Amino acid sequence: MTTPLLEIVDLHAEADGKPILKGVSLSIGHGEVHALMGPNGAGKSTLASVLMASPAYQVTSGSIRFNGEDITAWPTDVRAKAGMFLAFQYPEAIGGVSVIQFLRQAVQARRGLEELSVLEVRLEMGEWMERLRMDPAFAERHLNEGFSGGERKRNEILQMALLEPALAILDETDSGLDIDALTIVADGVKTVRAQRPDLGVLVVTHYQKLLAELAPDHVHLLIDGRVVESGGPELAETIEAEGYERWRP
Ligand SMILES: Nc1ncnc2c1ncn2[C@@H]1O[C@H](COP(=O)(O)OP(=O)(O)O)[C@@H](O)[C@H]1O
Ligand SMILES: [Mg+2]
Repeated sequence: MTTPLLEIVDLHAEADGKPILKGVSLSIGHGEVHALMGPNGAGKSTLASVLMASPAYQVTSGSIRFNGEDITAWPTDVRAKAGMFLAFQYPEAIGGVSVIQFLRQAVQARRGLEELSVLEVRLEMGEWMERLRMDPAFAERHLNEGFSGGERKRNEILQMALLEPALAILDETDSGLDIDALTIVADGVKTVRAQRPDLGVLVVTHYQKLLAELAPDHVHLLIDGRVVESGGPELAETIEAEGYERWRP
């Protein structure tokens, strides 16, 4: 058996003393796409945040292994450098920074470089924008210029493409995505995976359209802080048809 890309074992986590994750176990292999579904408040976003070591949450027991290494105690920046990616939700207040400036910083940090030339980023970014069929003018847009949902998704997909993570965690639950934004995410993930088939993806979503497009290898259902069922794409269809009632505690 090969070492999984990500292995979460009986993970418990809380925020301010309130238990949220109550024993999450799941394993993602290299190149696999996993979908995490579950009702509002189940702990899906918390799991995504805990996977990136958000300081808002405390892991109380269990472990997270990434490429065979126990990373449970690793801080966010070390996890990111090791190849874990969580689409960064930049604060609305970020001022005067263009998409390309922002991505240059992110790529520098990921590759551990002091300085990455603007030209180099421009070239790499240009190639990806072409593959992703994005308007080149998007690179010059400013992050604080009131991005639409679709533009935020473009920025995230570009980050994912340029940062070359081994595992991408995408939380698409409650962001009120319209069809355009969903298409950007689905096409983006497919395009990046076509170039980098080893990329593992954990997508948090209840959007059937996104699931249909991405065709996840595995679907997990999180209820009240526990994975209560894992299966293939048919699990997403059952949930779509029947809702979450059957699994509620
Ligand atoms: N930082 C926090 N502090 C306190 N409670 C939190 C925090 N983050 C999440 N929660 C609570 O944990 C539960 C799960 O939240 P969340 O992970 O956002 O669920 P989901 O993404 O599945 O809708 C909710 O009851 C939420 O209110
Ligand atoms: Mg959420």
